[in-house]
Amino acid sequence: MKNLVILGITGSIGNSTLKVVQAHPEKFRILGASCRSKIEALEEIARSFKIPYLVVEELSSVEKLKSSLDYKAEVLVGEEGLKTLVQLEEAEIIVIGISGIKALLPTYYALKAGKRVAIANKESLIVAGDILKKIAKEAKAELLPVDSEHSSIFQLLQKEKKEQVKRIILTASGGPFYRLPLEEFVKITPEMAVKHPNWKMGAKISVDSATLMNKGFEVLEAKVLFDFPLEKIEVLIHPQSLVHGLVELIDGSILMHLSSPDMQLPISYALNYPERVKLQVPKVQLEKIGSLVFEAPDLEKFPCLKLAYEAGQKGGVYPLILEAADEVVVEAFLQKRITFDKIPYFLAKTLDGFKIPEMPSYKEDLSFILKLHKEVCLYVENLIKGNKTC
Ligand SMILES: NC(=O)c1ccc[n+]([C@@H]2O[C@H](COP(=O)([O-])OP(=O)(O)OC[C@H]3O[C@@H](n4cnc5c(N)ncnc54)[C@H](OP(=O)(O)O)[C@@H]3O)[C@@H](O)[C@H]2O)c1
Repeated sequence: MKNLVILGITGSIGNSTLKVVQAHPEKFRILGASCRSKIEALEEIARSFKIPYLVVEELSSVEKLKSSLDYKAEVLVGEEGLKTLVQLEEAEIIVIGISGIKALLPTYYALKAGKRVAIANKESLIVAGDILKKIAKEAKAELLPVDSEHSSIFQLLQKEKKEQVKRIILTASGGPFYRLPLEEFVKITPEMAVKHPNWKMGAKISVDSATLMNKGFEVLEAKVLFDFPLEKIEVLIHPQSLVHGLVELIDGSILMHLSSPDMQLPISYALNYPERVKLQVPKVQLEKIGSLVFEAPDLEKFPCLKLAYEAGQKGGVYPLILEAADEVVVEAFLQKRITFDKIPYFLAKTLDGFKIPEMPSYKEDLSFILKLHKEVCLYVENLIKGNKTC
């Protein structure tokens, strides 16, 4: 029985992780869990799994949560609480299901404590991949991908020699607007954008999927996780979301990984690695599917993917700038302060206009990264507010 900590248990990744645990209660015990603001949802989950350690964002939620539980739990608060939780001696596997940059510190501390980290959060890898990999190596921690495309590539690479890989390919469904004419993008509402055709996900990643920014982030994430140059990382549109990743080898063979689009699969793989266990997910029935469809992405209609490659080519803090800008821009879209078609516009403006401060040793320094992230967020916020003049 492994002790599991699930950060972001009230979200979509958290929910899929719970299903994996429920499918194999003999394998996992939930030692700790966190959320930001959905205290009632956390309470319900905590009650049914009798989770001994809980972390909430606000001090004011602690008493409310404690008094509503029907068992005794330790309730911790904020960043310090997350740090304590992921470093508990009994904690063995940490699932990082928090969205955004807030996942960075707990990911860092979990790796530093030598844990197995099953990481869904791509933002941390994009902004501080080098630091996280270095600390993982030093602490002999495991960093295992949960993002479905990266899990596929990870699985496909198990038996291949890196030097024999010609390229890796991440698939993208194309999101809900792939066939919509560009002129219509201005009319896309947040309600339309959060409805992904194939996956059930949180609001931020759903909007990112609709702009293909998510795929751009996944390219940057793959660069960090697998250490391939960007020239060897490609994207194909595959609207069926059955093939999640492909690996082309130097002899021309292409290996592909198929499964139904259900996050239980990559989560279970990361939790049970190198073993596999049975799961209650819909089976892929190839005879019913008939054919698999792939096409090259339209970078003119979806410039966010291009921006990610450009930021990755420039390297340094450019991926961080893009990621930070996107957090603010997507939030502004969700709050209806900007229209959907303006998302790439503000991202490109930020990449071009943000003045990078002196950064002698940013690769070593998490506090520098967090400070820079805040500065970029502020810059974009001002850009959005002063839209007409910028
Ligand atoms: N969903 C997917 O299928 C999927 C696939 C691949 C990768 N990912 C990645 O996984 C991460 C989570 O995605 P998601 O779709 O599960 O998001 P989500 O449904 O929005 O859930 C996010 C979770 O993190 C918590 N959280 C959010 N902001 C926080 C903060 N500032 N401090 C502490 N906790 C915070 C939320 O708590 P509350 O509920 O209380 O707000 C919630 O539990 C993202 O980085 C995403 O890119 C997701």
